[in-house]
Amino acid sequence: MLGSAVTAFWRRRQQAVLALGHARADIGDRRQLGEWVAAFNPEIIINCAAFTQVDRCETERQHALEINGSAVANVVAVAQQAGARLIHISSDYVFDGAATAPYVEASPTDPQSVYGESKLVGEIEALKYERSLVVRASWLFGPGGPNFVTTMCRLMTQGKGPLRVVDDQVGCPTYTPFLARALWELAREDVSGIVHYCNREAVSWHGFATEIAHFVAPRAEVLPVPTTEFPRPAPRPAYSVLETSHFEATIGRRVEPWIAGLVAYLQ
Ligand SMILES: NC(=O)c1ccc[n+]([C@@H]2O[C@H](COP(=O)([O-])OP(=O)(O)OC[C@H]3O[C@@H](n4cnc5c(N)ncnc54)[C@H](OP(=O)(O)O)[C@@H]3O)[C@@H](O)[C@H]2O)c1
Repeated sequence: MLGSAVTAFWRRRQQAVLALGHARADIGDRRQLGEWVAAFNPEIIINCAAFTQVDRCETERQHALEINGSAVANVVAVAQQAGARLIHISSDYVFDGAATAPYVEASPTDPQSVYGESKLVGEIEALKYERSLVVRASWLFGPGGPNFVTTMCRLMTQGKGPLRVVDDQVGCPTYTPFLARALWELAREDVSGIVHYCNREAVSWHGFATEIAHFVAPRAEVLPVPTTEFPRPAPRPAYSVLETSHFEATIGRRVEPWIAGLVAYLQ
């Protein structure tokens, strides 16, 4: 999902992009990555690849730690080989979700799920390289992948009675083309370390679903329910809001409101 948005954004700016899907490049295979990098000689590598099925990570811990964690060392190695900058994407799931104010880049990490743990290992690997930038994002939606918006649209237009959506998890939905733009801007700045980027304002899944219903199925009934009503293998953070003032000060603009991304996506 994010990889396709990044590719589209860069190409619209007349940049040569080698967009590698899983079938052509396995980030677990350093030799294969090295061959691509030697052939293309990139100035910048953006790692959007990850094992993103949060619940499956609980039962496939080894695989999650390999792909989201140790494989990032391969990406670092080939970035070093090419002298390229690395932008690595991470997640709000590295935090415990127990905060009551937005997480800043230096907030203590304490992942509560295997997915979050594996993403944290990936951050540590990425940051061993001085030309790395780790961008933590949250609640992605956009073209090219199943996401909360497509799921809600499907359920709402099926019209099978009231929809029950959790109201006690709060975060910031983030539209992938907006994140792609943010990555483009960050790539032009001399910034390394960790940067948070998400869209504004914070909302619960129920609040987000209600807004989606407003556009696609105004008569749909969307009921707020607690997380306990949908037990899942991986715990979800109750509070996932990332503070974006570092991004805003670095780039010199505010992050976009997610509602603008939702409208663009639905159109
Ligand atoms: N989605 C969210 O809400 C969210 C929130 C915060 C952060 N993030 C982070 O944002 C990034 C992009 O997420 P996304 O939502 O765009 O995920 P996505 O749509 O699931 O894309 C991830 C891609 O990585 C590929 N991949 C998996 N294992 C690989 C491997 N060993 N080598 C190469 N490619 C591999 C997947 O291919 P296959 O499907 O073929 O395996 C898939 O195409 C990830 O780092 C994710 O952790 C996502």
